[in-house]
Amino acid sequence: MLDLLLHNATLPDGRSPMAIAVQGGRIVDVASVIDAPARETIDAQGLLVSPPFVDAHFHMDSTLSYGMPRVNQSGTLLEGIALWGELKPTLTQEAVIERALAYCDWAVARGLLAIRSHVDTSDARLLAVEALLEVKQRVAPYLDLQLVAFPQDGVLRSPGALANLERALDMGVDVVGGIPHFERTMAEGAASVKLLCEIAARRGKLVDMHCDESDDPLSRHVETLAFETQRLGLHGRVTGSHLTSMHSMDNYYVSKLLPLMAEAQLHVVSNPLINITLQGRHDSYPKRRGMTRVPELLAHGVNVAFGQDCVMDPWYALGSGDMLEVAAMGLHVAQMTSRAAMQQCFDAVTTSAARILQLEDYGLTTGCHADFVLLQARDPVEAIRLRATRLKVFRRGRLVAESPEATASLYLDGRPDGTAFLSPATPPSR
Ligand code: FE2
Repeated sequence: MLDLLLHNATLPDGRSPMAIAVQGGRIVDVASVIDAPARETIDAQGLLVSPPFVDAHFHMDSTLSYGMPRVNQSGTLLEGIALWGELKPTLTQEAVIERALAYCDWAVARGLLAIRSHVDTSDARLLAVEALLEVKQRVAPYLDLQLVAFPQDGVLRSPGALANLERALDMGVDVVGGIPHFERTMAEGAASVKLLCEIAARRGKLVDMHCDESDDPLSRHVETLAFETQRLGLHGRVTGSHLTSMHSMDNYYVSKLLPLMAEAQLHVVSNPLINITLQGRHDSYPKRRGMTRVPELLAHGVNVAFGQDCVMDPWYALGSGDMLEVAAMGLHVAQMTSRAAMQQCFDAVTTSAARILQLEDYGLTTGCHADFVLLQARDPVEAIRLRATRLKVFRRGRLVAESPEATASLYLDGRPDGTAFLSPATPPSR
């Protein structure tokens, strides 16, 4: 007897109708027809069933702190860092835990079941590290939280930052972070990349650096990141986050850089909501977009994910943990409007992000964890277009969140034929 049989589903690759059989928290069969008794059967009615959303780049220690103690007036990254510096001394462990847990509730409701969060290790108290390690444990039954030791104030620039980062790793933080463009000089930035990659190699950790989050075309730390990755044999274990300077770089230099990034099997996380608002602030017009070269990276075989980065914090006033909103913004800013490119935008918040986190048994194939989301959309592109309602969210075969179908009631007395429009959430079939 199966625990759950979901049938009449459309999968992200277009196969439909498909059935998914679940037993003991795992997917035990995926086929067009599964004829087996089950304790619970769900008819997906031809709608999309996707593996859960994955956010490859977030800051859970600062989330939901918008306005504390004031808002970011200039809208720049640097004022955001300064503002976070004002807020940090007033943080309490309880408040960080409370806000992080509230965000995790939002995430699960939106089918977001895995998050890589950077946690600031600059503060010697490591209060945020302790708080998020606690959160990681508490949410583990329903959400995978992976933590990155992030020396926000610069591992070389900030006194004690290196020792604090090493302590955070000793405490159980999963990934080595960095911020080379915030070090005092280009040379110090490059030295920080070398140092941090060596720490990761020594400890057998993954790397994920905030890298070149700048409009300066000469901010080229990604070159050092790719070099150190191949020098230390860390292929496929290193991620460059943001990489916004690539937007402004000289095209000839980029033509050399892209193959080096592919050679090192570097992963890239672009954060479209944040970078389209933070970057280009020193420009008049024309104003740069401040997002890395996503289609070009994909064309070179580099794995690219889209991250949420911030929700209601010193850097960004908006956001809600909706990875379809993130995908939609990435699609627009990168002009990824072909059918195949729009599908890649969906992958960037699901499978491509899962590869970066190295999530085990993620996906909709036999043997994977029974983690999936039933969306009120018929395919990934429609899901992005509608920011589709997550009708049901399953974790290990258990229903963990449910939302009512999006509908609209219309009262159009004046319509001559008396018919009603269809709600945009339920478009006519093609
Ligand atoms: Fe970030």
